[in-house]
Order: sequence, then structure tokens, then C-alpha cells
Amino acid sequence: MREKLVHPIEAAGVTVPNNLWFAPLAGYSYHALRVTAKKHGAGLTYTEMISVEGVVRGDKRTMRMAAPEDGNTAVQLFGGAEPEKFHNAAKIMMREFGYKIVDINFGCPVRKVIRIGAGSCLLKEPSAMGEIVRAVKETGAVVSAKIRAGYSCVNIEKTIPIIDDAGADIIIVHPRLATQMFGGAADWELISRAREMTGRILIGNGDIDSPETALARLRESRVDGIMVGRAAIAKPYLFRLIADLDATGSYVSPSLPEVRDGLIEFARLFIATSNARSMSPLRSAVLSTVKSMGNSREVRGKVSSITTLDELIDALDGWHEREGYPHETVTQ
Ligand SMILES: Cc1cc2nc3c(=O)[nH]c(=O)nc-3n(C[C@H](O)[C@H](O)[C@H](O)COP(=O)(O)O)c2cc1C
Repeated sequence: MREKLVHPIEAAGVTVPNNLWFAPLAGYSYHALRVTAKKHGAGLTYTEMISVEGVVRGDKRTMRMAAPEDGNTAVQLFGGAEPEKFHNAAKIMMREFGYKIVDINFGCPVRKVIRIGAGSCLLKEPSAMGEIVRAVKETGAVVSAKIRAGYSCVNIEKTIPIIDDAGADIIIVHPRLATQMFGGAADWELISRAREMTGRILIGNGDIDSPETALARLRESRVDGIMVGRAAIAKPYLFRLIADLDATGSYVSPSLPEVRDGLIEFARLFIATSNARSMSPLRSAVLSTVKSMGNSREVRGKVSSITTLDELIDALDGWHEREGYPHETVTQ
């Protein structure tokens, strides 16, 4: 019998239904997209990064962003090298929202975050990473730590043993340097190396954009699970296709009308749940999906200026499958 690559994960007493997770994506992994990813089979979703500073100050916008959709959500915290602030913020998240899994952002490379000594800047101070992990662990949370390969040079051989030793239950590796931002390819060799360094739950992340790649990564790098980011914005149904391919050896991509109906459902949910004053986050996500389906130039033009649900429905109305559009069945 073929080995099953998709399976539940037990993390320090918390059961996650499967090992296909939706990544934290600032500007995208808000409530509506997380619910949509889960509806299509993601086992765990992460919030957008949440400022520990904002949490401890009780900032209203931060708290709204941090609200989970259900129990299979992890909150991602970011902040500078202030373990106590992480500890306090984690406690507030657990008390206010019932979070069980608290993630620490050790990977964000954007200037605004680096400037305050947070995100990937902490990769330059492995001992501070250990202190933060330990401080969050003391709250009783299941601790997840999301790292990059290093800041400007690879240092997983330093960071992984330190966060492992400090008690991180889950280690997520995005194998790019911070200085690379999103350039170049994610180096999965480094994830295989990480596997040699830790017996903790190891999640691999980076450039997974198809069911085939997902299963190959799970098989070859011996990670416990994978995390999908950008590809799941365009194709939130990817999680289901990965699980189908693993379970049955084949999958059927959704037809264009199915994708269109899914987008409208997602848009309704976005409008009902988002506190954003603008439709811009919705437009970005819808455009990603539309682009991924091809035959969409005209529709893209219309979608990029929508301001209401009715306008979106009108825009998508003119979107038809190109001749021979796969509605693909793939068998391995
Ligand atoms: C628009 C965008 C926003 C992101 N925001 C976050 C974030 O808030 N926290 C985080 O840990 N990583 C963040 N990431 C990184 C992703 O979680 C992920 O590590 C990266 O995109 C690689 O995975 P992928 O190739 O599947 O997208 C972000 C990436 C993008 C493209």
C-alpha cells in the first residue's frame, strides 16, 4: 500500500486535522480567505502577523485582526527582542480568543518590521529567538516558530537548535534569506538539512504551487507537513486537490463556473466579515484567481475597478472557459 503523506498532526496535545496549512500572509490571510482555505481542506490557518505592541496596548484594530474564525487557527505575533511582551501578548490572545497555537514571526523581511528589530531581524540574534520562544512557551501555548534560512547568510544550524531547545513545538522553515525577499527559488535542500537537526514538528514552506509539488516535497524532505502561501490566494482549492491526489492518485481541478461561484461566495464573506474600508484586498485576491485561470484579460480589467459585490458579479459574468479548458483530471 502507498504511504499516506497527508495526515493529522498532534502538536503538544492539540490535534490539527491535517498537515496542509495555509500560510500567514499580511494583507491576505484575513478571516474570509482563511475560512475559504479551510472549506477547501486546509488543516490549519495562520492569522496575518499581529503586533505584540498593539496587543498589549489593547489596540482595537489589532484585536479585530487577531480574531480567529475557529479553533484550527494559529495567531502569528511579531515584535522586537522583548520576550516579556511576547509572553503577555500570547496570554492575551489565549484568554481573549482561546488560541491554543501561538506562532512567532522570525521571517518578515519588510523594512517597517526590520526597523523595529522584529521579524527576520531576530534571525541575527539566535539567543533572543530562544528567549522569546521560552517566554511564549511559559504561557502554556503550543509554540510555533516560523523562520527563514537566515538574514543575509544561512544560519539554520544556529537558530534551529536554539528554538528547539527553548521548546518550540512546531518549526516552519521558509528556505530563503531575508535579503532575498521572494527572489530566487526556495531551497528545499535546507529543509532536508533542518530535518536532520530537529525532531520537532517540521513544516516546509516555499513555492508549492501544485498537488504534485506538494506531495513530492512531503515525500522527499520528510517534513511533517507543508504550508502554502501565494498559490493558495489564487487557488484556495489547492488543499483539496493535494489531499485527493494523496488519497486516490488523481484529482479534478474545479471548472471555471465552480471557481466563479467560489469567488462570489468568498466576496460575500469578505464583505460580511472585513472591517476594511476598501475593496482593495478583495480585488487583489479575486485578481489572483482570475489570472490563474487564463482567458481572463477582459475580466481582469473589469475586476480591477470593482467597488461593490454587484459590480464583481457583473464582471465575472462575462468570464467564459476558453476552448478545451481542462476542468482537469490528473492521475498519477
Ligand atoms: C503578500 C505576502 C505577505 C506575507 N505575510 C507574511 C506574514 O505576515 N507572516 C509571515 O510569517 N510570512 C508572511 N509571508 C511569507 C509567507 O508566509 C511564505 O513564507 C512565503 O510566501 C513562501 O511561501 P509560498 O511560496 O507558498 O508563498 C508573506 C508573503 C507574501 C507574499
